[in-house]
Amino acid sequence: MDTADLIELEGVEKVFDVRRKTGFLRRERHEVRAVDGISFTVPRGEMVGYIGPNGAGKSTTIKMLTGILTPSGGRLRVAGIDPSRERTRLAQRIGVVFGQRTTLWWDLPLIDSYRLMHRMYRIPDTRFHENLDRCVELLELGALLDVPVRQLSLGQRMRGDIAAALLHDPEVLYLDEPTIGLDVISKAKVRGFLRDLNAESGTTVLLTTHDLTDIEQLCERVMVIDHGRLMYDGPLAGLHEVGESERTLVVDLERELPPMEVESARVVKVEGPRQWLAFPAAESAAPLVARIAARYPMADLSIREPDIEAVIAKMYAEKATS
Ligand SMILES: Nc1ncnc2c1ncn2[C@@H]1O[C@H](COP(=O)(O)OP(=O)(O)OP(=O)(O)O)[C@@H](O)[C@H]1O
Ligand SMILES: [Mg+2]
Repeated sequence: MDTADLIELEGVEKVFDVRRKTGFLRRERHEVRAVDGISFTVPRGEMVGYIGPNGAGKSTTIKMLTGILTPSGGRLRVAGIDPSRERTRLAQRIGVVFGQRTTLWWDLPLIDSYRLMHRMYRIPDTRFHENLDRCVELLELGALLDVPVRQLSLGQRMRGDIAAALLHDPEVLYLDEPTIGLDVISKAKVRGFLRDLNAESGTTVLLTTHDLTDIEQLCERVMVIDHGRLMYDGPLAGLHEVGESERTLVVDLERELPPMEVESARVVKVEGPRQWLAFPAAESAAPLVARIAARYPMADLSIREPDIEAVIAKMYAEKATS
């Protein structure tokens, strides 16, 4: 049965039992709580960012959502299916791209991998050819179809992998770092393709990435995970308001001067006549500018909004010290 929420997690946990060598013969057992009680839902048609630092538990979550890993606790449903119990049935309805690792057959020409998937997923012929043609056109794969996968560049291979994940018309697409290692142009192509896919086919997308530009350009909603816990779930814009983030006033003075001393702001960087002042994001810049203008020979100024990287880095840092 279909519900509005295509992905549902309730208190999901994954604990790994790890044995670590501590001496010549001694081994110590300990637990890694990779996912430590995560709950969220994703409605059909949404494109959500799933971000967090290395080791946060992102890939582990995605592996549970595909059925590769069985949760240690909690409840998980994708399209109403319990992934680890009915992995094969779920496979018909989801697509996965692991940017770090290909699902294509390394030694075969790209087109042969697609033909194998045609059979494996029992995709009706017309649908297979329609989907293939569309992916070949939009991901510019035409010249690559007869090339063995191992000869493809990283960006070409990634586009090939994305096509492979979509040939059977999945309702949900999990992307685990689909732009990793790609150059700016390839990244733009992949993003454009995903945006169109979501808009035109209504495919639900869960996107993991370390490139926040991916999130900025594709996702209205973002979830931040750290140490297996969900730390933020909301609009991208809301991340700016988390914690007391700061804005930066960049002031060009008429000449080089020692760091300015201004109430409610502090100089964080000086480069020749240019000085950077951090001030609380919630405060208006106007009185600050007036105070500076009254005391210093100001030639020009601009205001920088906090970038998401800085805000997230700060969230991680706060979490680590709390
Ligand atoms: N098969 C496994 N056995 C033991 N520990 C594991 C296993 N898989 C993952 N872990 C541990 O679980 C934690 C979460 O790993 P995971 O791969 O989910 O992180 P991630 O958020 O995807 O990080 P990255 O951004 O580096 O890809 C890490 O501490 C990792 O070492
Ligand atoms: Mg990962």
